This record gives sequence, structure tokens and C-alpha cells, in this order.
Amino acid sequence: MESPSVPTRRGRVPWQGLLLAVSLLTSWSPPTTAQLTVESVPPSAAEGEDVLLRVHGLPGFLAGYVWFKGESVDSSRQIASYVIDTQQMYPGPEYSGRETIHPNGSLLLQKVTLKDTGYYTLLGIKRNFQGDKGTGQLRVYQPVGKPSIRARNSSHRA
Ligand SMILES: *[C@@H]1O[C@H](CO)[C@@H](O)[C@H](O)[C@H]1NC(C)=O
Ligand SMILES: *[C@@H]1O[C@H](CO)[C@@H](O)[C@H](O)[C@H]1NC(C)=O
Repeated sequence: MESPSVPTRRGRVPWQGLLLAVSLLTSWSPPTTAQLTVESVPPSAAEGEDVLLRVHGLPGFLAGYVWFKGESVDSSRQIASYVIDTQQMYPGPEYSGRETIHPNGSLLLQKVTLKDTGYYTLLGIKRNFQGDKGTGQLRVYQPVGKPSIRARNSSHRA
């Protein structure tokens, strides 16, 4: 009789394993909040800037990361997941093409827009398939006194 596919020996945690862990963690084994914190650098960014959501207090022996938009671990709001062993990123429904997950778990958001304002949640998945999560907030503002396109481009006039 085969036991479920939870790995009992050390080794690579495949992408399918990470997917399974996410579904387990979102359904019946809620992640703990531990000391994992997410810091937005800078704390508030002007539209068009790049922002790094830095992660502090990650536990050891991680298999991967999953980033979510919002304050909770909700698969439908998954930005992307990252498998540490293979250094591969897998986009989710909220992926816009401007996000990169670094090997240390931090999320780079390029050319932020006003719509990027809000909460971001990181789920760190350990090799025993338990999870730690942390949430951080990003504020994006419209720069004041920004020269308008019209002022720089007069070819539409007359
Ligand atoms: C993680 O990696 C990124 C990219 O190399 C780096 O900028 C950042 O300082 C590192 N550390 C944390 C805590 O995010
Ligand atoms: C200026 O207007 C022209 C004509 O519509 C357009 O082709 C060009 O891309 C515009 N340049 C900028 C900087 O907006």
C-alpha cells in the first residue's frame, strides 16, 4: 500500500509537492504567523518605481515560497510560487509580468501602479510541508507636479 506523497526523506521537493502543500495549507492546516515579517522598500512608492517586498525571519529548511495579493493565503489571489531547489518561479492568477521572487523570498515589483497598493502575503513552505506566513503593506502614490505628456509633446496641437 502506498502512503500519500509526503516526502519522508531529504531531497528535492518537486513542483507538484509545493502545489499539494499549498492546497493542504489553505484547507486544513492553516499556516502560523511566527516571526515572519514583510517590509516594503520603500514603504510608499511613486507610480512607476520599483519596490522590493523584503522578508525577515524566515525559518530554515524551506522548500519554497508563495506570494499572494491580499492579507490571506488564498489560492485564487496567488501572484507566483517559487521552488528553491530548482530556482523556478510559477506565475499565478495575480501575476502581471512585473513580479520576480528572489531566492531569499523577497518579491520585486517593477514599475508599480496605483492598483498595486494593498497588502501582500508571503507563505514560506517548509520541507515538512508546514507553513509560515507574513503580511506587509505597499502604498503607491501619484507623484505631484509630474509634467503632463501634453506639455512635452506638442505634435497634437493645431
Ligand atoms: C534578498 O535578495 C534581494 C535581491 O538579491 C536583495 O535586494 C535583498 O536585500 C535580499 N534580502 C532581503 C532580506 O530581502
Ligand atoms: C508625441 O505625439 C506623437 C504623435 O501622436 C506620437 O507619435 C509620439 O509617440 C508622442 N511622444 C510622446 C513622448 O508622447
